[in-house]
Amino acid sequence: MQREVIGIDFGTTNSGAAFIEFDEPTIIENSENERVTPSVVYFKDGKDVVVGSAAKRNTIANPDRTVASIKRHMGTDHEVRIGNESYPPEYVAAHIIKKLVSDAEKRIGTPAPDVIITVPAYFMDSQRQAVKDAGEIAGLNVRGILNEPTAAALAFGFQEDDERKILVYDFGGGTFDVSVLTIGGGFFDVDATSGDNHLGGDDIDSRLEEFIVDKIKEKHKIDLTKKKGGNRALLQSLREEAERVKIQLSDKERATIHLPYLSKNGRGTPIAFSYTLTRQEFNELIYDFIERTRKPMQQALDDAALHPDEIDDILLVGGTTYIPAVQEFVRDFFGKEPEHRIDPIEVVSLGAAVATLKDGVKEKERSEGIRRPVEISDVISRSIGVSVADGTVSKIITRNTKIPITQTKPFTNAGDYVDEVIIEVHQGESLYPEEDGYLGEFWIDIEPKPVGESRIDVTFEIGEEFGILHVTAKDHDSGNERTVKMEAVGRLTKGKKNKWMRKMLKTHAIEVIVENIDTRDILNYYLNPSASIGDVRKDLMKKGILSEGMSIFYDDEELDDKTLVRDTGIEDGSALELR
Ligand SMILES: Nc1ncnc2c1ncn2[C@@H]1O[C@H](COP(=O)(O)OP(=O)(O)OP(=O)(O)O)[C@@H](O)[C@H]1O
Ligand SMILES: [Mg+2]
Repeated sequence: MQREVIGIDFGTTNSGAAFIEFDEPTIIENSENERVTPSVVYFKDGKDVVVGSAAKRNTIANPDRTVASIKRHMGTDHEVRIGNESYPPEYVAAHIIKKLVSDAEKRIGTPAPDVIITVPAYFMDSQRQAVKDAGEIAGLNVRGILNEPTAAALAFGFQEDDERKILVYDFGGGTFDVSVLTIGGGFFDVDATSGDNHLGGDDIDSRLEEFIVDKIKEKHKIDLTKKKGGNRALLQSLREEAERVKIQLSDKERATIHLPYLSKNGRGTPIAFSYTLTRQEFNELIYDFIERTRKPMQQALDDAALHPDEIDDILLVGGTTYIPAVQEFVRDFFGKEPEHRIDPIEVVSLGAAVATLKDGVKEKERSEGIRRPVEISDVISRSIGVSVADGTVSKIITRNTKIPITQTKPFTNAGDYVDEVIIEVHQGESLYPEEDGYLGEFWIDIEPKPVGESRIDVTFEIGEEFGILHVTAKDHDSGNERTVKMEAVGRLTKGKKNKWMRKMLKTHAIEVIVENIDTRDILNYYLNPSASIGDVRKDLMKKGILSEGMSIFYDDEELDDKTLVRDTGIEDGSALELR
């Protein structure tokens, strides 16, 4: 059976899924018939986990068991505490990705264990690795991690023949990203990227909340941030109200903040709060956030050696670009109208779907011109270098260099007659090693020489795949050479990742006993509901319990390879026979 590859936009506030249907990228609706899924996870008591709108609605009732904006914590040591348990961000994210894919599989009717997931271009390797791990914990085969702005450009320009310079201005829920690309004829070259990892619509909501809290203090002498007990629900509705008003102000000149119940007064009558905010007032309130996007935008243009006039198309991506003041800011900056034919919320998922064409184009389709392969060349988003004697980092490959690349830089000995040097590798823009930028270290033996007389060449090599760096150090005098492969430091060890994967599959998998009738071999086994019987057959063959020519029986009925496990009606604890 043909397996579809799903493109996933894993967002801070909203996530989405898309695939290629009849040669067109198409959004796949979730099981609630929505085109985007809120990135909210509700860990119900017991085993149930709810993701999406239902989880979002639950935030007020169960704030302790509901997790939002997990993307902001990817690649960090942050722990999510739910009851007595503590989850890594990868595990929470895995639930979101899993829901998107299971819903997509139901919708399109085929198993889709292969995915491409998007991340902000500014994500460091450790953050990318964390997202990839999340996909794997969800039991998926992560075929690629793609930058969100590249995805947007793919969706916009995959049928474009002429060469164009594109700037993607992506202002979403949690991050701001800007990228400059050259596209045309199936090629997508990233020229430069920049951004701010901690700037998004969430910040605007918080600013608006503070504003409301202040107004309430002024008017009613009530400090919501200090109020004890039963306060959670109020703060939650404050947050929702802030976002609602913000969104309304994208359409209307004024909007009213309304909180029907703040507290009771002395006579027991409820105190309500109401305030009408104008767009003008709102714009002033948030202007510094918008202004903060200028520097990264200028940086990306500088790195690409382009003047704003040379940009052919400006793509606005992310929900925050619906704000008229944001659009105006971009229009002023370029002195031209941004592109309005794309949907800022859906374009990243659609682009992730287009990226599935990268290696998925069949020879026949190619020769008949049905599908054109897509070629994407990316840049490294952070500089990498080695630390030297004065404690600074000497960069070997600078940010925004196109990959794949090999680069060598000569170094020398910092001490008299030392017989070894340590090569310590760091990622980041600062002159000094950054806390989260350490990639690894190793040493090589060198021939002892007076200070400054050795020559040690350090070579960095980055291939197509993100996060894998080969570092070679070579001492000229002795000829000693050492190459070390450094991988993006994944936060989760293999063992931990397996643990969460097992937990994930158990909450979703069906536990069965498999018995080989000929050999009497018995195996306890977890069935992935989204797998086909064919997938199960392959796996059981790998495990050595099933041999060629045998069939799988449930309730005395032979199961067809094409059927999905979830459609077989197999129940927890039942037995499967191999004969
Ligand atoms: N009409 C609107 N006006 C203003 N803001 C909006 C509008 N619609 C959505 N937003 C805001 O856009 C943000 C969500 O945007 P989006 O879905 O693009 O983000 P995301 O993909 O989840 O985040 P990121 O890409 O940063 O990880 C939220 O802060 C939301 O409040
Ligand atoms: Mg997004």
